[in-house]
Amino acid sequence: MPPSTAAIQFDPSHRLWVLHTPQTSYALRLDERDVPRHVYWGPALALAQVIDVPRRPLPADSSFESPASEAGELAGDGFGPQGLLVGFSDGTSAVEWRFVDHEVTAGDLAIRLRDRHYPLEATLHYRVHDDSDVIVRWTTLRHTDASGDPLLLTRTDSATWTPPLRPRYRLSHVTGAWTSEFQLERVALPIGETVLTSRRGVSSHQAHPWLMIDDGQAGEEHGEVWSTALAWSGSWRISIDHSPSGRLTWTGGFGHEGLTWRLRPGETWRTPPFAGLFSTGGFGGTSRAWHDHVARHVLPDPGTLRPIVYNSWEATGWAVNEANQKRLAAMASRIGAELFVMDDGWFGARDGDAAGLGDWRVKTDNFPSGLDPLIAEVHRLGMRFGLWVEPEMVNPDSDLYRAHPDWVLHMPNRARTTLRNQLVLNFARPDVAGWAHKWLDTLVRDHHIDYLKWDMNRAFTEAGWPDAGPDASRLWIEHVRGVYCILDRLRDDHPDLRIQACAGGGGRSDLGMLSRTDEVWISDNTDAADRIAIQHGYSQLYPARTMAAWVTDSPNFLTGRRLPLRFRFHVAMAGVLGIGGNLLEWTEEELGEATDLIGRYKQIRPIVQHGRQYRLGTHAGRTAVQYSTPDQLAVLAWQLPLRAGQPTVPIRLRNLDPTGRYRDADTGSIHHGAVLMAHGIDPDLPTDYTSTLIRLTRIG
Ligand code: GLA
Repeated sequence: MPPSTAAIQFDPSHRLWVLHTPQTSYALRLDERDVPRHVYWGPALALAQVIDVPRRPLPADSSFESPASEAGELAGDGFGPQGLLVGFSDGTSAVEWRFVDHEVTAGDLAIRLRDRHYPLEATLHYRVHDDSDVIVRWTTLRHTDASGDPLLLTRTDSATWTPPLRPRYRLSHVTGAWTSEFQLERVALPIGETVLTSRRGVSSHQAHPWLMIDDGQAGEEHGEVWSTALAWSGSWRISIDHSPSGRLTWTGGFGHEGLTWRLRPGETWRTPPFAGLFSTGGFGGTSRAWHDHVARHVLPDPGTLRPIVYNSWEATGWAVNEANQKRLAAMASRIGAELFVMDDGWFGARDGDAAGLGDWRVKTDNFPSGLDPLIAEVHRLGMRFGLWVEPEMVNPDSDLYRAHPDWVLHMPNRARTTLRNQLVLNFARPDVAGWAHKWLDTLVRDHHIDYLKWDMNRAFTEAGWPDAGPDASRLWIEHVRGVYCILDRLRDDHPDLRIQACAGGGGRSDLGMLSRTDEVWISDNTDAADRIAIQHGYSQLYPARTMAAWVTDSPNFLTGRRLPLRFRFHVAMAGVLGIGGNLLEWTEEELGEATDLIGRYKQIRPIVQHGRQYRLGTHAGRTAVQYSTPDQLAVLAWQLPLRAGQPTVPIRLRNLDPTGRYRDADTGSIHHGAVLMAHGIDPDLPTDYTSTLIRLTRIG
């Protein structure tokens, strides 16, 4: 549905703009000094009602406060964290705005401001949609004097966000590490500044560029929640300011502290989108609104059901060859996989992680006739073919590095620290990005590759760009833009190509990557018991149709834990099911069970991938998730370790028609919607790591 201009109103007498989404309103105004000030963000209000919203009280009137402390739309003055830090050549810093004009086109509002003295113009951008309560914001800065001195940019945030005053605030966000991404934290927000950030060159495993704020009262299905998410895949920073006077704002954007950029004469600087959502539906309603938004406005190909991938990584590691991949492909197709992905190890001198990255030539010892015989066999088996690549990286032990040691991020007179024996290629350099695009384009074209797993396996260190002189810090931005540009070009030129985002698991899974990929490998941890928490955290913002999840071997390679095949399947079936185990070692019984479970997944796939998700909670180690379309439901429930004697409670389903009746596809029993919601179901999960899939169809 195209956005409608009616969604944005301007009242010239109050110098007030009101943005309307289906269920919320957002308002800002210009103050006496032409500074855009925040007015309102919450349940829908008409323009006349917004005019009534009282000005936000300033902190106590004293000579230690500034009137400029009122919440700004791009915090640029006052005493809190600044969203915009600019320095001019005469030593002046900060900005003094003059309003220039505003423009409303479709669902877009652009407010143009110019510095009263210096050659800087800023435009605050807002976008609203008819079918989403998410408001997308970004900023552009322009150096307006083509013959002037460069301007020094120290911080250029996309947006500053302000919720209404509440007695207290609580922060929800996810943290983690490699193999433990997306761990949900929900903590009372202290008075003071809280910074969420990544300085790693990727959005990171450790911190994640979204947050949710509530007043401490919201629950999974009730309560007011304000949430924002930054669409950026490199370093970033969100500074949350909970002042002693009780006010809350947060400002965020790309780059981390200590980086400076010179805005060149005549240049325009565009920040990434920082999107915000207000919901009265609690954390679950907030998640569903983000899921819908990501499907409608972020993903390049939301409507296609994701195929069942077989990936060879945990089975063959780096020791891939034509024979073992063909054997795995035969087994994968036998149990129902639809796309076969050969992972790391198919190129250069890549026998482990010490050599070969950067030399994207097929390893002829292992593939004597190249990739085509394997690809032909995969196609003959009725599957599509995908390949692992890690374009941004190079091993020092590679022909590429020997030929181009200057292509990596590095600094003169500093070490080149390797992590996983690799260095980062500088994609800010057009020649390096051009080289990468060329080999990727040729690879995809020559071999009709259907799917790429684009990996990125190390953080930035000694991130320098000697040739760029004073503009070296641009690499933090331009590297990411280089990656985006290649992904976009590949998709444009190969419309059937599908791409999985991976960075040692979920180290770079954000709205920026999701706007140009189809799914995310959210963790290298494939232990299904650990994965429940990882998936729970991922689902807070991102939809199940993007959450790749494999069933792998038992004991798990990482944790050594043994888990039933059925449990492993049921956990992976909560997202985009894939298989990553060594099928050559599975018993006939296991292969039979896997075939059956993959068949079941195919039946529920449209419900899981395109339905609405309800997290039904955890009690006594029992966790359940419901996916529903208007007439169909799939509920997955998993039992984590039980304490003897611990009572369990039924699992109450959500959002059914209380007057409807629902038939269980496996037992044939019929349930009233009202009972399923009021009382719940009590699945038989008698021991640790038992699990179930309940499929219900509405029959009247
Ligand atoms: C990363 C990925 C894995 C696998 C390996 C290959 O760790 O997350 O899934 O592809 O690289 O080296």
